[in-house]
Amino acid sequence: MLLEISGLTSHYGRIQALKGIDLQIREGELVALVGANGAGKTTLLRCMSGVQPITGGTIKFDGKDISKMSPEHRVGLGICQSPEGRQVFGPMSVEDNLRLGAYRRHGPNIKADMDRMYEMFPILHKKRELPAGTLSGGQQQMLAIARALMGHPRVLLLDEPSMGLAPLLVAEIFKIVEALKENGTTIFLVEQNAYAALAIADRGYVLETGSVVLSDDGAKLLTNEKVKEAYLGL
Ligand SMILES: Nc1ncnc2c1ncn2[C@@H]1O[C@H](COP(=O)(O)OP(=O)(O)O)[C@@H](O)[C@H]1O
Ligand SMILES: [Mg+2]
Repeated sequence: MLLEISGLTSHYGRIQALKGIDLQIREGELVALVGANGAGKTTLLRCMSGVQPITGGTIKFDGKDISKMSPEHRVGLGICQSPEGRQVFGPMSVEDNLRLGAYRRHGPNIKADMDRMYEMFPILHKKRELPAGTLSGGQQQMLAIARALMGHPRVLLLDEPSMGLAPLLVAEIFKIVEALKENGTTIFLVEQNAYAALAIADRGYVLETGSVVLSDDGAKLLTNEKVKEAYLGL
């Protein structure tokens, strides 16, 4: 098991946002976490990357308890996040945004990695000298994913990559996520777009008000009556 979360709880003051989450991610898997707005998806991701304190339970990575490890150290281990709302640095160039994704690393490989990103996302190459804030929403999402990839993720955490994008771009982003999985990247995909996420996921979890209420193969969740009714509008 690459990542193993047991009994995880987290609070905002007296409000309990996560109520004892158990979740596992194996190496090479694409695991989806779906749930409505406010279910606790972002809170869980932020607990995994270490920017949100946990109040109980454990997070193990590669068998080692990282529950108290700093966010910087977790990035160093390869836990790399593309945050909700993309959060690219608008005034900085596309290229400098990419460079930031490799801030835990040094040396000549960074140039090679950047070239690899430009190959994967030709539009970022074309716009590499422009301020990131001038990119469209879809391009900023590609940049946020590429920036996370620059950290050499052993697990890539994606928080709602399709949020706010037009349908054609949503399809493009999901194709990119699928291609990354096929290249062997381990991915934890958090989405309100349950249909698209479960359709490409090996396994999925359904989160409701801070608790996992269902977990199964992605394909099985897609045909689950409860999921269909609550999340797929079918
Ligand atoms: N900074 C915060 N302060 C207080 N409550 C918060 C904060 N962030 C999130 N919450 C609450 O925690 C719950 C889970 O939020 P969140 O993790 O953002 O859900 P999701 O990503 O699934 O939409 C919600 O009820 C939300 O109102
Ligand atoms: Mg969220």
